[in-house]
Amino acid sequence: MNPKAKSRNSTPAAMISAGLLAAALSGPVLAANPCAAKAANPCAAKNPCATNPCAAGPKINRKDVVRPAGYKPLKGDHATLAKQGAVLFTDAKLSTNGMSCNTCHQDNNAYQASFALPYPHRVQMAKDDLGLKTIHLDEMVQLCMVKPMAAKPLPWQSEELAALVAYVSDVQKKFKPAAGAANPCAAKNPCAARNPRMAKNPCAAKKH
Ligand code: HEC
Repeated sequence: MNPKAKSRNSTPAAMISAGLLAAALSGPVLAANPCAAKAANPCAAKNPCATNPCAAGPKINRKDVVRPAGYKPLKGDHATLAKQGAVLFTDAKLSTNGMSCNTCHQDNNAYQASFALPYPHRVQMAKDDLGLKTIHLDEMVQLCMVKPMAAKPLPWQSEELAALVAYVSDVQKKFKPAAGAANPCAAKNPCAARNPRMAKNPCAAKKH
């Protein structure tokens, strides 16, 4: 459906009708969104973007994020771990708020330019929350676990952590900094990140 074609055929009076106007302005995506039809959005309660999980919540505990003394990352077959990591990345059960890593990071959303640098490096969120000058990739996974995912950190020796690290390091290799740098607000509000589907239809964020 082409919304422009529709408005050409409409009378001005009909155009003022709220429904048509909304459809004409927002196009097929909004029109197709069952949540948009109702005045109050029934998905808002379940919508992870209704509040900004990165802005709210209790203070982050440094111990949950910073590698423990004598920590040695779990070793394993990279390809096997990366495969497991890809599955975990879309697993909302890792969080307590219905989100998966993929809710925010699908198609490299929410990653900033720093993600292109070799680890350890400076990440704004780690600096803001914990005053960390630099952060390792496994620590970054833990930070996203405890903050946006509102969950406990993964056990440091767990296969889950190693798997997510393996998967994300593969993603990182293909990451182009320019894309992440495009939205300077993404760090503050991950839901404002460049995911047009999520912005238009909050219910779509639940689908993986
Ligand atoms: C609610 C949204 C949200 C969720 C869910 C989320 N993250 Fe993030 N993540 C962010 C934001 C925002 C940043 C950018 C932080 C910055 O650059 O200051 C980020 C950054 C990162 C980075 C890159 C940091 C860098 O620049 O080097 C990694 C790696 C990462 N997240 C991994 C994960 C993993 C793994 C999960 C799931 C366990 C996850 N994230 C879940 C919002 C989220």
